[in-house]
This record gives sequence, structure tokens and C-alpha cells, in this order.
Amino acid sequence: MVDIKNIVVIGSGLMGNGIAQVSLMAGYNVTMVDISQEILDKAVASIEGGLKKLETKGVLNAAENKSRLKASLDLSSAVKDADYIIEAVVEKMDVKKDIFKTCDENAPPHAIIASNTSTMSITEMASATKRADKCIGMHFFNPAPLMRLIEVIAGEKSSEESMEIGIKVSKSLPCLRGDRYVAKVLKDRPGFIVNRLNSPSGIYMSYLLDTCLEQGIPFESLDADFGSRGPMSPLVLSDYTGIDTGYHVRNYNAETLHEDFRPGKVITQMYNEGKLGRKTGQGFYDWSKGRPQPDFSKIKKAGLVDRGVFLAISMNEGCRILEEGIASGWKVIDDANMAGMNAPGPFEYGIKNWEGHVKKLEEFADKIGSEYLKPCDLFRSGKFVDMK
Ligand SMILES: NC(=O)c1ccc[n+]([C@@H]2O[C@H](COP(=O)([O-])OP(=O)(O)OC[C@H]3O[C@@H](n4cnc5c(N)ncnc54)[C@H](O)[C@@H]3O)[C@@H](O)[C@H]2O)c1
Repeated sequence: MVDIKNIVVIGSGLMGNGIAQVSLMAGYNVTMVDISQEILDKAVASIEGGLKKLETKGVLNAAENKSRLKASLDLSSAVKDADYIIEAVVEKMDVKKDIFKTCDENAPPHAIIASNTSTMSITEMASATKRADKCIGMHFFNPAPLMRLIEVIAGEKSSEESMEIGIKVSKSLPCLRGDRYVAKVLKDRPGFIVNRLNSPSGIYMSYLLDTCLEQGIPFESLDADFGSRGPMSPLVLSDYTGIDTGYHVRNYNAETLHEDFRPGKVITQMYNEGKLGRKTGQGFYDWSKGRPQPDFSKIKKAGLVDRGVFLAISMNEGCRILEEGIASGWKVIDDANMAGMNAPGPFEYGIKNWEGHVKKLEEFADKIGSEYLKPCDLFRSGKFVDMK
């Protein structure tokens, strides 16, 4: 197996920034690539700040780490000595394919090319190269230094050796909040494990939002149904990540998984009107004065949310992940969800009464007329229980 010394991180935005920092902390030489000097300067300053903070806590020597960091605007020359490349640019397939091609044409033959895509096909990116066996997915969670999970994804042509290198590099990257958890994703399917597990909840959420619209219920009342779990309620979080992001993900899932994922009336209307949340100042909430802090103790609940439906949807999707051979067992799915989302997966809790959850989902899918939410064969049969 090749000794990995030089890592190139392409895209120095939110994700690339964190990925470069943990790669430095693991002792690699790191080159960051982006399209403008201003963006690169900002990224370098932010990494320097992060390293200095850690130095004050006695975790590392900031100057030594910084001495192994380079920044470049020229991708072709930046990858000339690369052993391992991590692409973290915008979530657009054509841009990613162009980058994979340039890397393939300029990097040494042994170099691995990995993508940090949240959901897109590694196989398709690899098709832009002549080294599909050396292309893999390496999916971090935001922020990369703090979230424990990295999913390492096999494209259709990825070699076992490339996967082993990807897993070894992933395990070597420190996490500031506990031990790294590396999940091996056996099949290149949209959303991999964790994003896939959580994506069909969006079908239920769309249904709930559209019900609010039809019945004239304020959206904050729906948010109040969830209460304040975690740092942000679901609709504050949607505004924070961007209504446009949710809109695009739902459409991608509709095209790759099932038509039922299409964004509903509320999300489509907000997208068309440019009410995108934090970035435009208005989404479900008004962001013009900073992050909204709804006081749910004073807001009337909509009384629409049934948490049992969310659990049943999640168990069903976990079973689809097992059925499609994406993960080796339900424990990996549960552990990955905890490491990537700070939330328990559905199986450990739901397995005891699995038949009740199947029945609940059956009734709910019939009620809203969703084909995709119907319990899949593996869920219905209960055979997943032994697939730990
Ligand atoms: N934000 C998240 O929570 C998250 C989590 C996991 C994975 N991802 C994935 O990571 C990737 C990056 O997401 P992000 O949130 O960091 O985006 P971002 O917009 O913060 O950063 C993307 C960066 O890529 C740069 N870029 C664009 N085209 C480029 C090119 N041709 N060459 C070099 N650099 C280029 C941009 O200038 C920008 O700095 C996406 O594929 C996204 O789906 C995001």
C-alpha cells in the first residue's frame, strides 16, 4: 500500500477548510486549491485561527502545522505530487467531473481521488478519469473537525485497495469530539448511509408543511410540535442550511430514488419567491435581526406531528439500505447516524416493537398516498432483526 504524505484538498469552503485542518493535524502535507486568492486567504486565516486555538489548549504546535500548509489557484500543478486528493467543491456534477478529469491527467498514477459529495454518484465522477479503480467517496460531516463520522464509499469500479487506503486515511484524521467513526459504504447509491437514512423524513415534513398551508396553521406552530431538541428546531435549521439546499436535494432524490421526494407546495413556493432563510433574511422565520429564537413555551402547537411515524420511516429506510447492500448491518447504520448527526439511529430503539412500526407506516403511507413510504419487503418480513 502506498505511503500517503501529500494530500490536496480542492475547494476551501466550509467543508474543505475543516478537511484541510484535520489533515494537517494528522501530520500530512496539505495543499488547498480554490478559484480565487481572496477565498484561499480567508481559508488559510481561518485554519490558522483554529490551529492557534488548539495550541492554547496544548493540543498541537500551530506553527509546525501551518508550515505544512500550501494554497494554490492552479489545480494541475497542485496535484503533481499528490498521493491523495479530496474534492470538496460545489455540489454540481459537471464541476466535479471536470475536476476529476484534471486530477487524473496531472496527478501521479498512484494517487487516489476522493469526493466529499453529500449524495452524488462516485461512479459517474470516476467515469471522467482513466483510473476509476482509484476513485472513491469520502464523505465528512459538518464541521469536519468536530463530527466523528466519515463515510468511505465504493464506486462501481473502486478497487478494494483504494477503499482500504481511504479507510486508513480517514481513521488517521483526528476528531476533536471523540474517536473517528469510519463507515464503509458498500454501494454507490444516492445519499450513501446517513443522508439516505434521513431523507424520506422530508416526504413527511413536506406533507406536514402543506397541511399547515391548507389549514391556515402558522409554521412556527408546527415547529413547536417538535419542541426545542438540540441547538435548532427543524424549521430554524431548514432556514439556516437554506431552503434552496433542501429544494435541490429533494429534486435530486426525486430523480434518483422516487418521485415522492419532490418538494411540496410550501417549499416550492418559498424557493420561487426567494425566501431561502438565513441567506436572504427571510424563510420560515425573519432573519433580519440575526438567528430567530422562537419561544416554544409561548407558541400554540399544531398538534400534527407523530414521532412514531418518523421512527417507522427511518427504520424502513434503514431496511432499504440493507436490502440494497449499501451497509453490512443495522448496527453500522445506527452508529453512523450517531457519529454523523449526534442522534441515535432507529434500530436499537425500534427493533423490539418492529411489527407495530410496520403497521403504523403501512397506514400512514396509505393515508397520504405515498408509494415510497410503504414498508419494503425486508422491513415487513422482520428478517432485518438478525442483520446486525
Ligand atoms: N456543508 C455541509 O454541511 C456539507 C456536508 C458534507 C458534505 N458537503 C459537500 O461538500 C462539498 C462542498 O460543500 P461546502 O459546504 O464546503 O461548499 P462551499 O460553497 O462552502 O465551498 C465550496 C468551495 O469550492 C470552491 N470551488 C468552486 N468551484 C471550484 C473549482 N472549480 N475549483 C476549485 N474550487 C472550487 C468555491 O470557491 C468554494 O470555496 C459539496 O459537495 C457538499 O455537498 C457539504
